[in-house]
Amino acid sequence: MIQLIVASAEPRFLDFVRETNAEVIGTHEDMGPNLAQRILHDVNASPQSAVLLDISLDVEQGLRTLEQIKQSGPDVYVILSDMNCTQDFLLRSMRSGSADFLQQPLKRAEFSEAMTRVEQHTQRVQRQDRQIGRMYSFVGVKGGVGTTTAALNFAAICAKHGKSTVLVDLDMDSGDAASYLGLRHQYSLADVVDGLDQLDQAMLEGIMVRDALGFQVLCAPEEIERSRLIGEEHLREIGSFLIERYDAVIVDGSRALDGLLLSCLELSESIFVVLTEEFPAVRNAQHYLSALARAGYGMEAVKLVVNRHEKKGSLHVSLEQLKQTLGASPFWVLPNKYEEAMTAVHEARPVVMKGNAELGRSYRDFAKKLGMNGQPPSPGKK
Ligand SMILES: Nc1ncnc2c1ncn2[C@@H]1O[C@H](COP(=O)(O)OP(=O)(O)O)[C@@H](O)[C@H]1O
Ligand SMILES: [Mg+2]
Repeated sequence: MIQLIVASAEPRFLDFVRETNAEVIGTHEDMGPNLAQRILHDVNASPQSAVLLDISLDVEQGLRTLEQIKQSGPDVYVILSDMNCTQDFLLRSMRSGSADFLQQPLKRAEFSEAMTRVEQHTQRVQRQDRQIGRMYSFVGVKGGVGTTTAALNFAAICAKHGKSTVLVDLDMDSGDAASYLGLRHQYSLADVVDGLDQLDQAMLEGIMVRDALGFQVLCAPEEIERSRLIGEEHLREIGSFLIERYDAVIVDGSRALDGLLLSCLELSESIFVVLTEEFPAVRNAQHYLSALARAGYGMEAVKLVVNRHEKKGSLHVSLEQLKQTLGASPFWVLPNKYEEAMTAVHEARPVVMKGNAELGRSYRDFAKKLGMNGQPPSPGKK
């Protein structure tokens, strides 16, 4: 219910408001010079409330009161009310910071529309306060280029920075994420889809598995038959739900560029296209990027991540050639460190957790470039 603080010297005005379904939490009939202070006192006690200020008794003083309120409480939502409402007057009241205006005599329909606007305003503010999280999708131009490795290392970094983090494994064919992390899971994305009607955070946390590093993994289904039942609409709904509740949602998109993957890209802030310097990978990257472009994602929307970079080697496409072929510079280049990568899988620990591994360092610098600096930020929402 909307909470109102009402100031009016007119008892009928107050009576009218009391008969609506707004909750009147404070009234002021004395319009004296410290009215603004008294109203601000009420607002402090109930920060969600809006103020309805009847200035018909003395317009000049009323506008002064409004200005004083807005000076000390710029976010206070004030509705002015007066008998007349000339253009000039409305303009003045807006400039003084009123959010809305109600002409007197008050009418039910107009009043309730004004209350709807208060409610919409409150919801907007709440949404802004609870900043929505970000989805980062990692997609590979072909299998084996290191998409899963990149996604889970990035998830580990996000968790280490105190962000509430979810890794979503979209690879319904092999679903490597859980096994690279040594996690056993009973439930998967298919179970979320089955229970979509009752989707809430508790249910989701019962389905996801928690990695020791603190991030959650939403695993891919093991059974192909169940994977087939997952649709684009489902992923859109689950993805939106996740970014509303977690700071970072990382998608392991080791799969073909199909409708399911595209429905996640729509929600993603960053799309990392992973490739290597091998000829087939670069050729695939060309096709992949043009498919992305046809879907509306140009080179501004995607970030190239070159994996397994070799400083020298004639068997590879050089970074310079790669840049020319693809028409874009890599956003990040990760070194070829097969042993480090394999040891990490063997030990089921993301390589980024190894202080002395070169590949781990490169991943940390990658995250730094994305704005995740040395120190973990203040704890994220949970
Ligand atoms: N920078 C790297 N250097 C060497 N090997 C790597 C690197 N990144 C990943 N790998 C290895 O490449 C293989 C494929 O990686 P994976 O992440 O499963 O790729 P994808 O998900 O694209 O199929 C794995 O054995 C992994 O350990
Ligand atoms: Mg993979």
